[in-house]
Amino acid sequence: MNKFSIPDIHTKIKANEKISFITAYDFPTSFYAKEAEIEMILVGDSGGMCLLGKKSTMEVTMDEMLIMTEAVAKANSSSLIIADMPFMSYQISNEQAIENAGKFMRFNIDGVKLEGGARMSERVKAIVDAGIPVMGHLGLTPQSLAQMGGYKVQGKSIESLDTLMKDIEALINAGVFSILLEAIPNEITEIITNNFNIPFFGIGAGIHTDGQLVISNDMLGNFVGDIDPKFVKKYAQISEIVIDSFKKYKEDIKNLNFPSEENYYKIDKNTLDEIKKNIENK
Ligand code: KIV
Repeated sequence: MNKFSIPDIHTKIKANEKISFITAYDFPTSFYAKEAEIEMILVGDSGGMCLLGKKSTMEVTMDEMLIMTEAVAKANSSSLIIADMPFMSYQISNEQAIENAGKFMRFNIDGVKLEGGARMSERVKAIVDAGIPVMGHLGLTPQSLAQMGGYKVQGKSIESLDTLMKDIEALINAGVFSILLEAIPNEITEIITNNFNIPFFGIGAGIHTDGQLVISNDMLGNFVGDIDPKFVKKYAQISEIVIDSFKKYKEDIKNLNFPSEENYYKIDKNTLDEIKKNIENK
């Protein structure tokens, strides 16, 4: 696949073709996404939960995000890669937001994502004015979990939809190249997407967005914990394969079935005889 770029998003939309978008936090997953010709990758702060065992995305640091982003970027020169700005890496000032967004761009990725609408629009504009593409993120925004009272579907009332619409307008005016909608009823997403002319991506937001994002660990059954989102379709159950393989490995060790002949390094017989003789003669 040729490098997928922001203008390509518009080409796909014009051709009525939906865009595939997954999260990746490490080199192998990013490489597999490239092999599968997935168009877009988010190095999400969800990596803190999926990979590092954190309880929420609020615990994720810039340093952790940079390590994950570098690995993902190194493995994949085809997908469009977006890095998630972690909690408190952009909220404090425009200068802080630009500086941190710039750290991600040093890995030659395509842009950053940050959570929030009207109240974050000044930060978005500052980053965009610095030449860095920004994806907005509205609906359920996990970095504001405390304010939202948990993982709750958004946009389910007149007031909530009104706020969403105003936030979208503010983000568009601030210069985002697209907006990610999270946890919104299908019919509400249809109303939203019919009202604005900007690429929308969805995670748990139904069918009416231009592309779908899922957390790769969720779709692969590779997550330890009790979050099991209803909107995720499971394509594999990697945890079972891994646990089963570890059990078989342990059994093989106990039964002396591993390592066996085919796993040994070999040494030429003459050299071995010589080594043994040498030891005997000492
Ligand atoms: O970090 C992430 O993966 C995200 C998605 C949940 C949208 O921000």
